[in-house]
Amino acid sequence: MIRAATIGAMKSFYYLFAAAFILSSCSQSPEDIGSPTWPDTVPEKLDFRAHVRPLMVINCIECHNEKDAAKHAGLNLQTREAAMTTGIHAPVLIPGDADGSLLIQMLGRDPQHQMAMPPTPDGIWGVRLDILKKWINEGAKWPRGVVLEHPSDIESW
Ligand code: HEC
Repeated sequence: MIRAATIGAMKSFYYLFAAAFILSSCSQSPEDIGSPTWPDTVPEKLDFRAHVRPLMVINCIECHNEKDAAKHAGLNLQTREAAMTTGIHAPVLIPGDADGSLLIQMLGRDPQHQMAMPPTPDGIWGVRLDILKKWINEGAKWPRGVVLEHPSDIESW
């Protein structure tokens, strides 16, 4: 009798422990990866991963991804190939010609303009705009196979 009661108590204790463990692992928030840092001046040697990828992931990919492109002028900026072939005005990215690229023409616009990109007041200007221009003028080099993640999937900068 005593033994059965002890086992019962042990069992409920175990269940309680298991439940607490499951709960604590569920409530864990995703790791905070902070924000990427930008150089104060345009670096002489650009690195796609460090300088271009974060700009596009933070500002563009939320809308211009494969899944949601249809709602955003058909433009998918997740891969180099997509960036150069998709969009109703494709190509929006012309390697070697930043000023001739619609992508840059839209970024330079007044944020009040209905076709300004990104459609948010903070926009891309100053050093960040110059980084993108330099990157395109130098041939829009994009390491093979690199797919820009949706900002909610990013695990590290
Ligand atoms: C909140 C969603 C959203 C974000 C973020 C966004 N765009 Fe767009 N983008 C749109 C929509 C919507 C259109 C279609 C605009 C229209 O036709 O009036 C568009 C159109 C464009 C076009 C024209 C494509 C074409 O072929 O006509 C370019 C280029 C573009 N965006 C570049 C960018 C870049 C570069 C970024 C990041 C710096 C960006 N966008 C961020 C929603 C977005």
